[in-house]
Amino acid sequence: MARLWAKKSIEQLRQEAAESEHSLRRALGPVALISLGIGAIVGAGIFVLSGVAAQHTGPALVLSVILSGVGCAFAGLCYAEFSSMIPVAGSAYTYSYASVGEFLAWIIGWDLILEYAVGATTVSIGWSGYLVSFLEKTLHLPFPAELSKSPWEMVKLADGTMVRSYFNLPAAFIIGVITVLLIIGIRESANFNSLIVMVKVGVVIVFILVGALYVNRANWHPFLPANQGIFGEFGLSGVLRGAGIIFFAYIGFDAVSTAAQEARNPERDMPIGILGSLGICTVLYIAVVLVMTGLIHFTSLNVPDPLAVAIDSTPASTWLSPIVKIGALLGTTAVILVMLLGQTRVFYTMAHDGLLPKAFGEVHSRFRTPYKSTALTGLCVALAGGLMPLRIVGELVSIGTLLAFVIVCGSVLAMRRMRPDIKRPFRTPVVWLVGPLGMVVCLAQMLGLPADTWLRLFIWMAIGLVIYFFYSRHHSLLQASQPEAARPIVRGGS
Ligand code: ALA
Repeated sequence: MARLWAKKSIEQLRQEAAESEHSLRRALGPVALISLGIGAIVGAGIFVLSGVAAQHTGPALVLSVILSGVGCAFAGLCYAEFSSMIPVAGSAYTYSYASVGEFLAWIIGWDLILEYAVGATTVSIGWSGYLVSFLEKTLHLPFPAELSKSPWEMVKLADGTMVRSYFNLPAAFIIGVITVLLIIGIRESANFNSLIVMVKVGVVIVFILVGALYVNRANWHPFLPANQGIFGEFGLSGVLRGAGIIFFAYIGFDAVSTAAQEARNPERDMPIGILGSLGICTVLYIAVVLVMTGLIHFTSLNVPDPLAVAIDSTPASTWLSPIVKIGALLGTTAVILVMLLGQTRVFYTMAHDGLLPKAFGEVHSRFRTPYKSTALTGLCVALAGGLMPLRIVGELVSIGTLLAFVIVCGSVLAMRRMRPDIKRPFRTPVVWLVGPLGMVVCLAQMLGLPADTWLRLFIWMAIGLVIYFFYSRHHSLLQASQPEAARPIVRGGS
């Protein structure tokens, strides 16, 4: 059993990063990293799921936003310590490999697929909702209902009839476009991301400033509707359920850590990237949900485009509503980009450890990107985006990511005990408080999510265990102690 807990040494990880320096380009500075974080954070969560979460909280959604933000801040501090200490690609997966051993590292690597690949799936479905709304409500162009949602959903036509959809074509389309962009290269992708980030943050700020002029305080009363006798339906348990849902809106700051191998000065810049992007987004979110629930009664917000619907209740609707939709489209595009990027980098690292087949770690000789795993991930995510409903994948992402945060908060404590000697350019302040509090707040949000989401998490993890015991364990380069474990694989060609 001891083999399950085999650990990589920090020194080995750093050496691997140095040796593979020529494989991934070191192109990202602090501003690009903050931008990468905001690019990953502001997306379908605030533009779409905020309306869903409000159905459980009423105007008290702002409390859920704060609660979830606090949990993320604790986890973010732990991520920052790890990413400055172990500045290599792979995120929480790598951190666990060094601190709690291979078995838990596999669990977390497998779990991260829920965050990144299933996260990209969720956001592509949100993108699709805003695109269809933009085409139909703003441009008055019809879009075939049969191709606008997953096969599990019915679509209501203008004349009131219901039709079954077959495939969510816009969701699959956007994944295809971004996959190609990522194969072409990180530098181009990061520049593209910075541009979109400026646009979407601008749109969110305009929404806040203009919306604030038209807030009707009556919409804020009652601020926290009384619980309906069912867990999660308003009251304090509603705030907890709302936090579990709106948590999705914060996911992404940790994706900055997956780019550590592409950062110019990771030890200084990773904490700046993670905490900077998280702080900026928390302030924006608090303002957005206060304005949104003040513009219109929360019961009207259970729609695919809640921010646009909120602004439609004001005289600014004619010019601001299309801008909000375009901001949402661009914003969610950037999120998909960072999530797919994060996923392929986690696969890259796991392949180099032998836990996944080598193809996942192959870097294209000209583009310097892991082109095979990017293409395969893009294909799977595009199919899932076309075939899965938003609620199911969204909740699965939240619970999976919260689990990863719990493990990271625990691992940072474990590392402090086991390797106090290692240089930590960034140290989590009062770690013996922040780590446990991060675990408790994230676990509480997991408990707020429905039982069927828990069941899906268990099934996903069970599949991961089967793969680990039948494949990964036998191919692990650490376990076999082969020297080529550290060598980068540079193959492929144009
Ligand atoms: N935080 C990201 C979003 O809201 C995942 O789209």
